Amino acid sequence: MTTRRPIIAGNWKMNLGVAEGVALASEIRNRCSRFRDIDVVVAPAATSLYPVAQRLADSPIGVAAQNCHAEDKGAFTGELSPVQLADVGCRYVIVGHSERRALFGETDEGVGKKARALHDHGLIPIVCVGESLAEREAGETLDVVLRQLDAGLAGLQPDEIVRTVVAYEPVWAIGTGRTATPAQAQDVHAALRKRIAELASPAVADKVRLQYGGSVKPDNIAALMAQPDIDGALVGGASLTADSFARIVAYENKDA
Ligand code: 13P
Repeated sequence: MTTRRPIIAGNWKMNLGVAEGVALASEIRNRCSRFRDIDVVVAPAATSLYPVAQRLADSPIGVAAQNCHAEDKGAFTGELSPVQLADVGCRYVIVGHSERRALFGETDEGVGKKARALHDHGLIPIVCVGESLAEREAGETLDVVLRQLDAGLAGLQPDEIVRTVVAYEPVWAIGTGRTATPAQAQDVHAALRKRIAELASPAVADKVRLQYGGSVKPDNIAALMAQPDIDGALVGGASLTADSFARIVAYENKDA
């Protein structure tokens, strides 16, 4: 049994307008606030961060941005800094999502810089790692995810690593309906935790929360969460309705 506090986050990606996002946040608040033994996080599009954070201000549900820049301010047209994200009420920021790596040129080193900058401003990075299907089939899964992990955590002190969340999202499982089996996910999570023990210490590794992401649904969450090194989930499509997201959050409560 793990003593780590589970953390389930919904990544809304580039979906929902302000009114829709606030309505979804309200419903999630109503359905999920009673679960006190789990951290629940929503990651709206940037345009909805402020109103959603306002709506959730008096609730235990946290707000995450989906990306950030590593600098505090300056001539970076179109970007948002950790300072600005903290200012609108974010507590977390997703960095290194595979869509940003594949489609927007995000590098391992850049992800590490963002994680460093987020801790400088008291925000919690959710550092994403994950292999493509070609990499998995070539037997390179652990090489890829450990390289991404090393770079993502490179600039952090042990106490910062403890607060960092790492999300393992195999690219071939994202939006495909093809979830990694609990055993496949557990194997990678165990390797990630072992590496954190080497980078920091076994005590640090024991505290870091590792999420799984990739086609997480109400009917597969319990089996994933039953794995010893899976401490939560980063949910895409199934986080866009309050009902499916709340059922994922309530994975231990059959009556929810
Ligand atoms: P899906 O749950 O839609 O597969 O998306 C996973 C994801 O990318 C979350 O960040």
